[in-house]
Amino acid sequence: MTHPAAEAEAVDDIRIDPLYSPFTLKNRTIRNRFVLPAMQRASFGFRPTDWMVESLGRAASGGAGVIISEGSSPDHPAAYWQPVFSVIGRDTIDGWRRVADAVLRSEDVLFLMQLWHPGALRLVTEQMHNPFPDQPSLSPSGLVREGHRNGVAMTSQDLEDTKRAYVESALIAQEIGAHGVEVHGCHGYLLDLFLWHETNTRTDEYGGSTLAQRAAYPAEIVAAIREATGPDFIISFRFSQWKEIDYTARIAEHPDDLAPFLARMENAGVDLFHVSTRRFDAAAFPEVDPRRSLASWVKGMTEVPVIAIGSVGLTTDWASDLLDNQEAQLQIEQDLDRVRSGLIAHDFDFIAAGRAQIANPELISRIRDREFSQLRTFDKPRDLGGGDAYIADGQIVHEAHKRGL
Ligand SMILES: Cc1cc2nc3c(=O)[nH]c(=O)nc-3n(C[C@H](O)[C@H](O)[C@H](O)COP(=O)(O)O)c2cc1C
Repeated sequence: MTHPAAEAEAVDDIRIDPLYSPFTLKNRTIRNRFVLPAMQRASFGFRPTDWMVESLGRAASGGAGVIISEGSSPDHPAAYWQPVFSVIGRDTIDGWRRVADAVLRSEDVLFLMQLWHPGALRLVTEQMHNPFPDQPSLSPSGLVREGHRNGVAMTSQDLEDTKRAYVESALIAQEIGAHGVEVHGCHGYLLDLFLWHETNTRTDEYGGSTLAQRAAYPAEIVAAIREATGPDFIISFRFSQWKEIDYTARIAEHPDDLAPFLARMENAGVDLFHVSTRRFDAAAFPEVDPRRSLASWVKGMTEVPVIAIGSVGLTTDWASDLLDNQEAQLQIEQDLDRVRSGLIAHDFDFIAAGRAQIANPELISRIRDREFSQLRTFDKPRDLGGGDAYIADGQIVHEAHKRGL
């Protein structure tokens, strides 16, 4: 039993701990600064499973203040890839309603559904059932990276149809009670391919030499979702420099590229920027500032709250861990100190922890109760046991490398 004095001290610490201080976003209270990021692992047959209902429901009760569903596709033929990626469509709405109900049983939680589209990374293989095998993969210029083609460049009709599918998925999210959506624009998938100069060589209004110009289509999607869902619905936009296919890629060569891009996205209706990095406090432009993280640069350029992410509590980043098989060791306490410093310095407003929460579904309460010895590291074979799916996704990325895509 905890000594009453020790308990009082712990309560007091929690009250002043920036990690547990509530945040208000559009009149909605969020109980702490932790985020469960989108992690693809509990879908089957293009729909959510009972396991997703259970795991996200459990994450919401006593866990992170922001819960983001795994990346799921708008209902458009080119967005269907592997059956382990759910679709957010009329056919799958009942499953999603159960997920939302399970999450929304908890109070002071923000529930966002992530809208993701594979773009040119979609490969139709014989091993993976795809209901639309003849549908070409779509992307801004038919490129996975410079000089490597897969699929075709989107026509005006494709752009229009895909946008409509995004909007329909957002409306479904709203209908089942989600507080908002996160538009996935990172890691080398569809919307990121618009942002990256290597893969967006369009000469129409969706291309251009600046990041802000190349953001035209992602911004159009956000604006269309905003128009359809109204002012209270929350829209997060997730972006990254790095791609699964190139860890050193950059969409912004210099911090100056960021401000006009962020302004464009904010004007389109973004309420939250989720800055996806491999290590949350790594310097983004070491040649300009040897210490400042990407989240911190973004935070300094916008009024919109910012989520930081990347290797919280672990020695190895996600890509090296999942795609390159480097094992991660735990380093929770040191990292939490750095996260607290980041919150206090206003480098970001929220911190997401991915693998650490998969390995420790009770992570947030264990941190609060200082039960650090109860935590364990992320172990891919064990922790993704039910999720061979993701390992398969990693293999697909490697498959893309092998085929020279
Ligand atoms: C199993 C697994 C599935 C993931 N699926 C998605 C996804 O659907 N959408 C997304 O934006 N990121 C996805 N990610 C990336 C995570 O959101 C996060 O950026 C990454 O795990 C880094 O955070 P961490 O270092 O705390 O694990 C996934 C990560 C993992 C481990």
